[in-house]
Amino acid sequence: MSPATAEPQALLDLAVEVGREAAALVRRLRPEGRVPVADTKSSATDPVTAIDRASEELIRARVAAARPDDGFLGEEGDTLVGTSGVEWVVDPIDGTVNFMYGVPAYAVSIAARRGDDVLAGFVVNVADGREWGATLGGGAFRLDGTPHRITTPAPPPLTHLLVATGFGYDPQVRAAQGEAVTRLLPQVRDVRRIGAAALDLCALAEGTVDAYVEQGLHPWDLAAGGLVATEAGAVLSGLDGPPDRRLVMGAHPDVAPEYFALVRACGF
Ligand code: IPD
Repeated sequence: MSPATAEPQALLDLAVEVGREAAALVRRLRPEGRVPVADTKSSATDPVTAIDRASEELIRARVAAARPDDGFLGEEGDTLVGTSGVEWVVDPIDGTVNFMYGVPAYAVSIAARRGDDVLAGFVVNVADGREWGATLGGGAFRLDGTPHRITTPAPPPLTHLLVATGFGYDPQVRAAQGEAVTRLLPQVRDVRRIGAAALDLCALAEGTVDAYVEQGLHPWDLAAGGLVATEAGAVLSGLDGPPDRRLVMGAHPDVAPEYFALVRACGF
């Protein structure tokens, strides 16, 4: 591939190749039982393990070798400003707490974006091998097993939505999120806190949940899974415009206006 290429399928192909290699590394390095914490980040409950770092180092090295002019924004390392206009947005292990405890929902999440446009995204659940990929304008796909296109199924009525959500690491932010969820819970079927935002967004994409809401997401939590969700046909929104750090909510277009109004009314 020419380093200057920004063709979404070529970017996805690289994301898949590198993501699979990183997932294999994470699987191989994970010890039995509890994984030790190497450090904490934004708060005492925001962990990083040596394996998060090893995964990111591998992804950085592979992307740099294939596309030396691209930028790189990863959860665990310094931001690299590129010259090609393409930037890789990477969470080397999304769902680090699940990874530490052995809850089988943690993912490698790799996206390539140009400006605000995410061009390609790949998410692999390291624990069970499920894979999702998408390109801008090209649709969303399950890539494990026999690859096939996925579309967000028609939703149930508002009161029957199964809503995925998550909580940030800052105790004050969590307290506010908890209050908003308390208001939401009696008005929907139920909520799920799976513990990996990229997987929540892929679940929205293929209908294993009906809706999603979370505050405080970083670009690496959102980029790849967000593209999978929108390319599958879900709508994502922020508080008053595109999704951002303040709020990400998503649902099938048939229920999105009502659901987004409910989320706002709940005080997210
Ligand atoms: C976290 C997970 C979690 C979400 C947090 C994220 P990390 O990512 O996606 O589900 O609720 O907001 O920070 O720290 O495990 O990579």
